[in-house]
Amino acid sequence: MNALLFPKRLLLALSIVLATGVLPRAQATDTYKPQVGQPGKDVVWVPSPQALVDTMLDMAKVTPQDLVMDLGSGDGRTVITAAKRGVRAVGVEYNPDLVQLSRNAAAAEGVSDRATFVQADLFKTDLSQASVITMFLLPSINLQLRPTLLTLKPGTRVVSNTFHMEEWEPDETKTLGPVGCSNWCTAMLWIVPAKAQGTWRTPQGNLTITQSFQMISGTLGSTRITGKVTGDQISFTAAGSQYTGRVIGDSIQGSNWTASRIN
Ligand SMILES: C[S@@+](CC[C@H](N)C(=O)[O-])C[C@H]1O[C@@H](n2cnc3c(N)ncnc32)[C@H](O)[C@@H]1O
Repeated sequence: MNALLFPKRLLLALSIVLATGVLPRAQATDTYKPQVGQPGKDVVWVPSPQALVDTMLDMAKVTPQDLVMDLGSGDGRTVITAAKRGVRAVGVEYNPDLVQLSRNAAAAEGVSDRATFVQADLFKTDLSQASVITMFLLPSINLQLRPTLLTLKPGTRVVSNTFHMEEWEPDETKTLGPVGCSNWCTAMLWIVPAKAQGTWRTPQGNLTITQSFQMISGTLGSTRITGKVTGDQISFTAAGSQYTGRVIGDSIQGSNWTASRIN
């Protein structure tokens, strides 16, 4: 055989196979077909139904200003769907074959510029740039991620297929009917709340807030309050009056009231 007549890439692939008995990855993934339920590092691969992927992105209200990160991105469907909506999206996937499969799929859909994939452990990945996190993992993994998710910028949306976050109740839940979705059909949305816990000085007296995830309670002067923090928006009622405002670091700006943090 004349080596000069042989395409260089093929020759290289052939020599790797002969030397190692292993197909180089780019060749292997051309025919790679993941099996539902196949083992993954911490979670097996099961794809989200496309209808639920669409619902998850709808619930997160993704826009082209967002950066979506799918943790454990599987065959890349959530990332590619987001990219087809004009949104930048990154898939984090431990299995290198799934990463290559996803890159090939993104290229085939013409969205490789917006849909990128990193081969990495989701627990060792910096999530701080994401404005939307999507995931289909397990309750135990969600719980391990929960402290990190709560440090993300207030207003970051987290959407999970099926699995909850224990005491951090979802801000919204949607379950699709049997038409178009038969398994894994519930999506839950959490909006990372600003940190409002503490004591604040207001013209109406001190506002003391105890915060449990997005729920708040406490006192304004001697009046009890209950309310909620959604992203950087705070709202509570005190003696039948409704207060709303925006938490900006150590101050709260309301339409007709302000507060500054004491501690
Ligand atoms: C249930 S699948 C979900 C796939 C995709 N997000 C979807 O909704 O179709 C979970 C994925 O997480 C990946 N995975 C498991 N442990 C991981 C880890 N520590 N870091 C990154 N990916 C991981 C698995 O390989 C699998 O592809």
